[in-house]
Amino acid sequence: MSAEPISNSKPSGVGIVIAILLVLAVVMNFMTLRAAVGQSEATSEANAAREATGGAPTLEDILARQRGEGVDDAARRAAVGDPDSAASIASQLGTLGGASDPELWRAIRFGEARITSTSGGAGATTLVQDGGMKWLTFRDGPLRTYGGNLLLIMLIALTIFYLTRDKIRIEGKKTGVKIKRFGAVERFGHWLLASSFIILGISGLISLFGRTALIPLLGKEHYAAFAMDMKWVHNNVSWAFMIGLILITVMWILHNIPNRHDLVWLMKGGGLFSKGSHPPARKFNAGQKIIFWVVVLLGTSVSLTGLSLLFPFELPMFAATFEKLNAVGLPQVFGMGELTTALAPHEEMQLAQLWHSIVAFVMMAVIIAHIYLGSIGMEGAFDAMGSGEVELQWAREHHGLWVDEVMEKSPPQGASPTTPAE
Ligand code: HEM
Repeated sequence: MSAEPISNSKPSGVGIVIAILLVLAVVMNFMTLRAAVGQSEATSEANAAREATGGAPTLEDILARQRGEGVDDAARRAAVGDPDSAASIASQLGTLGGASDPELWRAIRFGEARITSTSGGAGATTLVQDGGMKWLTFRDGPLRTYGGNLLLIMLIALTIFYLTRDKIRIEGKKTGVKIKRFGAVERFGHWLLASSFIILGISGLISLFGRTALIPLLGKEHYAAFAMDMKWVHNNVSWAFMIGLILITVMWILHNIPNRHDLVWLMKGGGLFSKGSHPPARKFNAGQKIIFWVVVLLGTSVSLTGLSLLFPFELPMFAATFEKLNAVGLPQVFGMGELTTALAPHEEMQLAQLWHSIVAFVMMAVIIAHIYLGSIGMEGAFDAMGSGEVELQWAREHHGLWVDEVMEKSPPQGASPTTPAE
């Protein structure tokens, strides 16, 4: 075997590919550079043209806005005249007045005009609000895509869990003895919350996806009537959810304060992924505490934004919240800069709607997992919220420390005081 001199070797396939890639990279860099130069030339041209129009939008501005790019409107935003005289709408709408006064229309456009309304509240005095387009595109795009996918991913994950882990069974020998887990008021609170949440979830999803998913099935007329009914249901069932939320918070908050057993429980994955592992827990284990706090905190947030939507323009809360977040520096930590606190009344409503839906999607995903474990996923769990009494062996496996406490205070009839080894 003889080695060929390097100078004689033909270019290999890999060499050719690398060379092509290099050429492509150089060409692309060049094009990007040209585009950047072109853009900055275009921007300076646009600025010059804008000056020539006395601040009015240029053709370039309009095209840029149509491409979804940001347009510098500082000059127009500042040129709104004096709201107390020229730009006061009342003084401008006379027969000889400047009905086409550009300052007035700019003042209206940027929410600076002095408009008074005899009815309709804060929302009625904002005549133009272009944030609505951002809201609409987010609601129709990322909200539906990511929200819907989150629920699908959770359903797929639970199916995989069910197929690989199977139902979590009571592993020890059943005792035939029942132990009281939840009283009637606790179960009432839980089912009020649960049933209302399920109705709210379904009616909410219908209002978000209905136009695309149901109009082809029902036709526009029937869908319109159905959508109105769902809106009515959603608005009114919300009260039951809020009452249920208050009830379970008051009844269970003390049982859900984290303790040292929770860390052990979490490190062992709650014993959910392996048979024969039962980390000790009191009345609620760490997994249930997470569910509880998700329900309480996100449920409160969804309720507050829901109230803001139920009473339009009466309960604005985002500007005040952003102000507090800016003051503690939270948005800045995430590199977002200060959040704007100058929000039009409609923007408050748009943010309330988006936040309400985002939080509801997260809750739904978590609750789907909870419903699975509380019903078909775990043998013996449903009884806790059904009859209120559970099999003693189930309680020993999942809430050993709580069983010890009950045994000390008032042991159920026929119970032996042994607790299982971990
Ligand atoms: C058909 C639906 C549901 C079923 C079958 C179900 C079942 C259960 C069961 C069996 C428990 C007691 C677990 C134990 O004994 O340790 C429980 C607790 C609880 N449920 Fe539900 N539930 C459902 C829906 C909901 C919904 C929609 C919510 C809230 C929006 C909710 C919130 C809670 C909370 C906060 C607890 C206490 C913490 C926990 O055990 O995770 N449940 N549920």
